[in-house]
Amino acid sequence: MELQRTLETLLLRRQSGRRYSSAAVPADALMRVLHAGQGQRAGDEKRMAPSAHALYPLKLFVLVRRASDLEPGVYEFEPRQGELRRSDLNIAAGALLSVSLAGDEWLEQAAVVVVITADIRRALEHFRDQQADGMRGKRYVDFEAGATVQNMALSVAAQGLGGVVVMGIDEQQLKRYLALESHMEVVTLYCIGVPVESHAADTP
Ligand SMILES: Cc1cc2nc3c(=O)[nH]c(=O)nc-3n(C[C@H](O)[C@H](O)[C@H](O)COP(=O)(O)O)c2cc1C
Repeated sequence: MELQRTLETLLLRRQSGRRYSSAAVPADALMRVLHAGQGQRAGDEKRMAPSAHALYPLKLFVLVRRASDLEPGVYEFEPRQGELRRSDLNIAAGALLSVSLAGDEWLEQAAVVVVITADIRRALEHFRDQQADGMRGKRYVDFEAGATVQNMALSVAAQGLGGVVVMGIDEQQLKRYLALESHMEVVTLYCIGVPVESHAADTP
């Protein structure tokens, strides 16, 4: 029952949070969020979120603006080691807002933005024979990204952070910004920050 109560508390706390303070997200909190999303599960080769046929087509890019102990920049999350690997990429200020279909300003204000990408070619090929329209792999990728976001959102809620999924984006433009290989696609974004309400500096 205790676990059930904890779960219900977390589910109630999981709400989209779009107003962030200027505070940095603690790096250990960020790593817990990423681990909840796509980290390798202790004891086997599988991950924290489910994947059809354990294919694991998702890859997380992490745009860090303000996180303690981490230089601003673009990182790739390594599920096995639970580490961030710095990439050569830079996402210019304003670039994320420019791909928003709805002028979602929190894309620029979030301390961290996780970009969920997927090896769509691999997913489509793997499940090609399962359905006549050949799109099953795409549906599975979207489903797995949803499970990943929900895991991250519960971790964000548990740690008193704020987060929101942003899917209203020009995925192709963002794919160019991230210089993704042709077989990779952007699926969705997840913004993370320290909520305005819980940051002492925001309290007059
Ligand atoms: C598939 C999906 C796409 C979404 N896209 C956006 C988005 O582009 N921008 C945004 O600010 N919120 C987006 N949201 C968040 C919803 O607006 C939010 O979940 C909804 O208002 C319910 O509020 P809650 O998350 O606090 O329960 C999206 C949510 C889902 C599930």
